[in-house]
Amino acid sequence: MFNYFQLQDELLQNENINCNSSRQLDHRKQRCRFIIACVLLICFIMFPLCLLTINQQRRQHQQSEQQQQEQRLVCYYSASDRIQLNLLDVPGDLCTHINIGAAELNNCTVTLSPRLEQVLQNETHLYKAANPHVKLLLWIGGADSGHQFAVMVGNHAQRKQFLRSLKAIMQKYRSLDGIDLDWEFPSAYANERMHFSQLLHEIRMEWTREKRDDNLLSLAVAAPEGIAFYAYDIREINLYVDYVNLMTYDFHFYREDMPFTGLNAPLAARPQEKSIMGTFNINYTAHWWLKNGLEPHRLVIGLPTYGHSFTLVNPFNTRIGAPASGYGKCGQLGFTTLSETCACADGYLKPIYTFDNDTCSPYLSSLGEWISYESKSSFVCKVNFIKSLKVGGLMIFSLNSDDLSNTCGYNPKSSGKPVFPLIEAAKEILMAEKLEQQKREASWELEWVP
Ligand SMILES: *[C@@H]1O[C@H](CO)[C@@H](O)[C@H](O)[C@H]1NC(C)=O
Ligand SMILES: *[C@@H]1O[C@H](CO)[C@@H](O)[C@H](O)[C@H]1NC(C)=O
Ligand SMILES: *[C@@H]1O[C@H](CO)[C@@H](O)[C@H](O)[C@H]1NC(C)=O
Ligand SMILES: *[C@@H]1O[C@H](CO)[C@@H](O)[C@H](O)[C@H]1NC(C)=O
Repeated sequence: MFNYFQLQDELLQNENINCNSSRQLDHRKQRCRFIIACVLLICFIMFPLCLLTINQQRRQHQQSEQQQQEQRLVCYYSASDRIQLNLLDVPGDLCTHINIGAAELNNCTVTLSPRLEQVLQNETHLYKAANPHVKLLLWIGGADSGHQFAVMVGNHAQRKQFLRSLKAIMQKYRSLDGIDLDWEFPSAYANERMHFSQLLHEIRMEWTREKRDDNLLSLAVAAPEGIAFYAYDIREINLYVDYVNLMTYDFHFYREDMPFTGLNAPLAARPQEKSIMGTFNINYTAHWWLKNGLEPHRLVIGLPTYGHSFTLVNPFNTRIGAPASGYGKCGQLGFTTLSETCACADGYLKPIYTFDNDTCSPYLSSLGEWISYESKSSFVCKVNFIKSLKVGGLMIFSLNSDDLSNTCGYNPKSSGKPVFPLIEAAKEILMAEKLEQQKREASWELEWVP
């Protein structure tokens, strides 16, 4: 900062030169002094103000930049998962949004299991108090909710009943910032798509009436175009929904009508995958949604932390697409958390690990067992790619199925608390600029604030 007193001296000297030549020396000298004093006073007042304004403008600019490149990291938290996790054990800087659930839909009414109620009553507000910047949403629906949603959206009275029950819950649990609707999936029949859009519109209207305009409304949506084409009116989604969580996983798992090994969440098509098989991947489906009009900043692309296990028909045919006869022994019904995958692998005789470069996906096999899973490498690869698409962020399903128990050993030392190595890796890549920016902003403030 420059020296005002030095400046004042210089100005006074100048004044002397100017004023000395005058005949009414004293009088003019006084006037000069007065004017200079005024100017200096104004300078004194204005200078810090100017700095403040510059600083503010700069901050506003940074904020708008930040909003443009806002990267959400949406994490699903399951209260009644077979893998129990205390919400308060989720680090406050891990996810930007947490979808807490799943609340069920019964007879057009949102209902909470006792365990979910306990989380909402005893954990959610503590979490919110400690981490006010994290958005907490009530996750409604899930894999088995299709029929209940179809009934509920069917007519105005039923949708109204849903809205009433929702209002009661949102009033009771004040730390909730919004809802995530997980209807799997609206069908091509009975105008379900139209009624769904109507519901979204009515939710927004209701929230406006209740002065909850800042509440968040998100959807968990199908990735495959064969479902999405019939299920959603993307134009209406742009109007009423803050963002969609694209469920870009479960592209392959054991099914009786598709008894082959396959990858849970391949990033892109493999060279040998033709026609429809070449569409079952993250890249194709994400582009499909964009091509069909979803505003890019509303697209949040999903990654699983869990894997899928298979039992091989021939233990020596371990490639992708090999015949399978059922779920694997690892995990439950073919779903494996990352901790389970690593625990199973530890018990296998000489497991074979393969990383498929075309899809950024690892798989392992041993004695007839075959598991498609995610590792830190696959996450780094996939998150970098998703980030390069410059869309609205990344969604993770779920907190519960990361390597909570550090069985894979990614974390050098274990404190006994649950750890989230995959989600941490995703966060570091996704938020790299933001973390940098925060550092820069801090140093800028040190430099400039008087
Ligand atoms: C569903 O809710 C409606 C309206 O509240 C009620 O009349 C009906 O009996 C309920 N049906 C069941 C099966 O609970
Ligand atoms: C919340 O915690 C309190 C005290 O630990 C307990 O008494 C209460 O039953 C809990 N509420 C629910 C809904 O579990
Ligand atoms: C991703 O999909 C787009 C559009 O379908 C395509 O142009 C691009 O080549 C794909 N990228 C990869 C790595 O497959
Ligand atoms: C996959 O990429 C890695 C590193 O680029 C390379 O070492 C490896 O040989 C590749 N594997 C295959 C099967 O192409």
